[in-house]
Amino acid sequence: MFTGKSIIDVHSLTRDEIEYILTKAAEIKQALQEKKPNVYNLARNKELLAALLFYENSTRTKNSFEIAAKRLGLETVGFAGTEGTSVKKGESLKHTLDMFHAYGCDVVIMRHHLDGAAKYAADYLDIPVFNAGDGQHEHPTQTLLDLFTIKEHLGKLTGIDIGMGGDLKYGRTVHSLAIALAKFRNVRLHLYSHKLLAMPKSILTYLKEHKVKVTVHSSFEKMLKNVDVFYQTRIQKERMPDPEEFEKAKDACRFTLKHMELTKKKFGIMHPLPINKEYPSIEPDVDYHEKALYKTQAGNGVPTRLAEIALSLGLLGKDFKGKTHTETAPKQTFMRELKVKKQEKKTDQSLKPIRDEGTVIDHLQAGTAQKLMYLLKVEERGDIYRGGTVRRLSNRRRLKAMLMIESRTLTDDEMKVVAAISPKCRVNTIQKGDVVKKVELRMPEVIENVKYLKCKNSNCITRVEFQEHITPKFIRAGKKILRCHYCDHLQEGKDLL
Ligand code: CP
Repeated sequence: MFTGKSIIDVHSLTRDEIEYILTKAAEIKQALQEKKPNVYNLARNKELLAALLFYENSTRTKNSFEIAAKRLGLETVGFAGTEGTSVKKGESLKHTLDMFHAYGCDVVIMRHHLDGAAKYAADYLDIPVFNAGDGQHEHPTQTLLDLFTIKEHLGKLTGIDIGMGGDLKYGRTVHSLAIALAKFRNVRLHLYSHKLLAMPKSILTYLKEHKVKVTVHSSFEKMLKNVDVFYQTRIQKERMPDPEEFEKAKDACRFTLKHMELTKKKFGIMHPLPINKEYPSIEPDVDYHEKALYKTQAGNGVPTRLAEIALSLGLLGKDFKGKTHTETAPKQTFMRELKVKKQEKKTDQSLKPIRDEGTVIDHLQAGTAQKLMYLLKVEERGDIYRGGTVRRLSNRRRLKAMLMIESRTLTDDEMKVVAAISPKCRVNTIQKGDVVKKVELRMPEVIENVKYLKCKNSNCITRVEFQEHITPKFIRAGKKILRCHYCDHLQEGKDLL
């Protein structure tokens, strides 16, 4: 069911849902062209209100969403840029959301400069939230209009060759589009960019896991000859921490009319827009070419977004019969009890064993003992401890880290921290100098409400420097890998400090 659904990322849309949205959008596009309001003006006289909260600049997304909401029959409120709002007085995202909720808004459409902001809003509010772009993370409603345009032009979304260029590192549109295309059969992706702006490893890993054939090209021309559609993007200067990055990459991938001569007969060039007029990623004279799809593409923002709002408000979608996305509840088990062998008190020769009560954390990943001491507040509490890197008894050439804490037993929450930082380690409970319990830990499925853990993505909304007071939350994405619940950044547990 679509009713109440937020569109935050493309991960949480199934292929069936995407195809249904595109079908409804096609019906709405035709009705808009033929001015048949009975097909699209579905919220007339329903007194529904949309909040458009645009913390970042926008021409297309903001206006197409606003037009879509109005054509559907909603009234709109909100802001375009934070100038003139109380965000300038230091108001948090949570409090701003509270206001629009208190005013009775039925839907929130939000663009924000921080990764994960829309996910936070969707978790916090009980009304549908649309991510209109969050930092360098995702732009899912752009992806839906992109898919609509590809299908309109090529007649299909399977068995196609799609090129992507420009800024594959900071460009959120290409991240969302690549993930969405992975849901369709036999899509082959061709990437070309300056090496400083290559596609993030996390997206490449995702594509590999989903068996998408990805070719990273070193020749722009060769790539163009091979693709049905080339999706060009602007170099995202405003997101680069180092201005040198822009200087080096600004001219690396500029599409000209000369390039058009290399392309297939049914080729189309797309761009989410805007194009920077000083450093155009597509030369202005390409605009008039029949294979330039980006004006039509931008126009498709209205019918696709109208369909999305209508579906989330339950005004459409009663005949949807496909597969829906469901979040599975995480399993809470992350400890496996091991059999305690007799005479197991000799933990290692180079560290003095615990003679009375305490905990020995063994088989830690190298370099994690210090981090654990900090997270378990060992020094702050005045615990007596021994920790360090030691040789394994079984193999003297191999090293491991250990931490022994006297007179202390770890709580389940503390075990979870240990498991996240060094999965596969073992925790021994010592009584009267003997090991009485031994557990092996694995990466927990969810880690939340753990102080001091932080997402490695410096643009994540949960980072303390942004003062949004949002507690980080991580989801298991592999044996050693965690995914940030908000910004989807993949990271190893040992790096969460
Ligand atoms: N494509 C897109 O997001 O454009 P705007 O930044 O103008 O909204």
